Amino acid sequence: MMWRMFCSLFLLSLLARCTGDESLPEVTYSEQAPMDKREREALYSAIQGFVGDSWNGSDLYPDPCGWTPIQGVSCDMYNDLWYVTDLSLGLIHENSLPCSSSLEIRPELFELKHLRSLSFFNCFISPMVLAKDGWISFAANLDSLEFRSNPGLIEKLPETLGNLTNLKSLVVLENGFSGELPASICKLKSLKRMVLAGNSFTGMIPNCFKGFKKLLILDLSRNSFSGTLPSSVGDLTSLLKLDLSNNFLEGKLPQELGLLKNLTLLDLRKNRFSGGLSNNIERMQSLTELVLSDNPMGGEMVGIKWEKMKNLVILDVSKMGLRGEIPTGLTNLKRLRFLGLNDNNLTGFVPSELEALPCIGSLYINGNNLRGELRFSRKFYEKMGRRFKAWKNPNLCQPFEIVMSESQKHLLPLGVKPCT
Ligand SMILES: *[C@@H]1O[C@H](CO)[C@@H](O)[C@H](O)[C@H]1NC(C)=O
Ligand SMILES: *[C@@H]1O[C@H](CO)[C@@H](O)[C@H](O)[C@H]1NC(C)=O
Ligand SMILES: *[C@@H]1O[C@H](CO)[C@@H](O)[C@H](O)[C@H]1NC(C)=O
Ligand SMILES: *[C@@H]1O[C@H](CO)[C@@H](O)[C@H](O)[C@H]1NC(C)=O
Repeated sequence: MMWRMFCSLFLLSLLARCTGDESLPEVTYSEQAPMDKREREALYSAIQGFVGDSWNGSDLYPDPCGWTPIQGVSCDMYNDLWYVTDLSLGLIHENSLPCSSSLEIRPELFELKHLRSLSFFNCFISPMVLAKDGWISFAANLDSLEFRSNPGLIEKLPETLGNLTNLKSLVVLENGFSGELPASICKLKSLKRMVLAGNSFTGMIPNCFKGFKKLLILDLSRNSFSGTLPSSVGDLTSLLKLDLSNNFLEGKLPQELGLLKNLTLLDLRKNRFSGGLSNNIERMQSLTELVLSDNPMGGEMVGIKWEKMKNLVILDVSKMGLRGEIPTGLTNLKRLRFLGLNDNNLTGFVPSELEALPCIGSLYINGNNLRGELRFSRKFYEKMGRRFKAWKNPNLCQPFEIVMSESQKHLLPLGVKPCT
């Protein structure tokens, strides 16, 4: 074994010498695994750039893909040589290498061309702008790029991330990035997951989702995106989760939303959407969570055939300026656990059939203009406790028929006056 290795090493060096070909890998052997020397030096230097000069890779980890593995580094073999395929920097595990406050991204990082996954967690703390150079060298192989909890990463995402057309997962979560998204992001059509939540991105959501046939998760929440929701979201036919909550999006919801037949989560809370609810909602029949609260939507609930949305578990339409009556279709949603109708301008009676929803655990109707008697049973109040709220409905009252012992009086809904 050793002899054969020695021979091939000899042969290689001979070849290199004969042809003068610099590109032939210069390999060294540990117990079993050969690794291209340049690959190893690049790995040491790249990591040293992040963790600081006192870290000496060749000293501590002479065989990083073999018997001295580095926390956060994985390798794979190509043509009988080890290459680095996964690199995770920052405090992911207790024993992982923390990034230095004076870190630098060295050019050697981009020599690790076999990387399939690169992630930075809690690494960039001091302010730093990501340069655009280098990323192109990951174009062929990188399928996952993650920046999580790096408050130091500021200003724009580099345009060159758009060259990583094989990316399947782009996670840019809770960093300090701002400005508009680079237009080149529209080229990342292999993505299954795009998470850009918790930054300070501004500008419009690009209207370029045609061709994103594989996208399953789109999360742009907790940014400062403005403008309308582009109609091309309707092209995201595989989409399972769409979270655009906590932005400044406005205008009417596009009809094309109704094309998202497989969508299970739609969260648009805390935006400026208006123009009322329309029946594009009832066409998304896979939805289990629909959260539209805190938008000046206006309009009525009764136009929607809620009974069609049989999979709904969470429905939150609070703080939307909704008028009209509580639709009886809601009483058919047998899986519903959470129903938030509070802080609207709903009128009419409260359908007592809501009590019969087998899973209901939270029901909020407070802050409306509902009237008449609350016709729920004692059992219902016992089950719901403070997860039923009805206060701030001046014309709603609590009938005397419900007899509660002194010790259970506190279970009656707060802030609802007795009927006279
Ligand atoms: C690491 O240590 C070796 C020997 O212990 C030394 O030769 C080398 O210069 C050091 N490298 C760095 C980058 O400090
Ligand atoms: C990288 O993307 C830019 C546009 O975003 C394009 O002009 C350029 O040709 C791409 N480079 C390569 C090498 O594909
Ligand atoms: C939607 O989901 C169904 C069932 O899981 C699946 O067969 C179908 O391919 C999905 N549609 C798209 C466009 O991904
Ligand atoms: C609620 O509706 C009533 C009757 O239509 C109206 O008088 C009232 O101003 C509305 N309140 C709000 C907060 O819109």
